[in-house]
Amino acid sequence: MEVAKYEAVETLRDGRQTRVRALKSDDRAGLLSAVSKSSAQSLYRRFFSPKRSLTEDEVAYFMDVDFVDHVALVAELEEDGRGVIIGGGRYVLVEPGKAEVAFAVVDRYQEQGVGTALMRHLVAIARHVGLEELTAEVLADNISMLKVFEKSGLRVSTTRDSGVIHVALRLS
Ligand SMILES: CC(C)(COP(=O)(O)OP(=O)(O)OC[C@H]1O[C@@H](n2cnc3c(N)ncnc32)[C@H](O)[C@@H]1OP(=O)(O)O)[C@@H](O)C(=O)NCCC(=O)NCCS
Repeated sequence: MEVAKYEAVETLRDGRQTRVRALKSDDRAGLLSAVSKSSAQSLYRRFFSPKRSLTEDEVAYFMDVDFVDHVALVAELEEDGRGVIIGGGRYVLVEPGKAEVAFAVVDRYQEQGVGTALMRHLVAIARHVGLEELTAEVLADNISMLKVFEKSGLRVSTTRDSGVIHVALRLS
């Protein structure tokens, strides 16, 4: 498996097809566009702070993916003949064998299975490269994210620290 060229097709709940693929160096505009279409609540749930846009440094970080320590996938939909990014999921290695995951799906495409699909593909990659554990920080009221983790089929353990749930998912 060449992670930097990862690609798969998934069918959304409404029957449309989405391409789940590795982030590419020319996805900057698509990523910014997806952020601009996301609600304040979604951005808050992703970044844990009020945000309407990303700083230059944040964009640089999100685009700086080496597909070893930092793996990013996007979900893309064909709209008017061109690919539009509707969501993304990534993991960043935090220590050997262990990576932190995070996801974001543009609001109007949520509840269609995109998050679940991104999770499944990230897990496939993580397993392929031999990671042992995925972790995530999730706001306690973020039912969708917690549901995606529950549905992953992985062994999930959670600890709660006031409003934040720390999730650990065992890959082995
Ligand atoms: C979290 C997020 C990535 C999930 O993506 P998604 O594409 O909407 O997820 P899916 O459609 O695959 O699955 C969501 C599940 O939650 C369920 N769900 C959502 N709200 C629910 C509720 N209030 N009660 C019960 N189930 C609920 C959905 O029914 C669905 O489960 P199902 O497939 O069994 O029906 C997306 O909502 C998002 O981008 N949120 C904002 C950013 C964010 O929270 N990021 C997480 C930071 S780690």
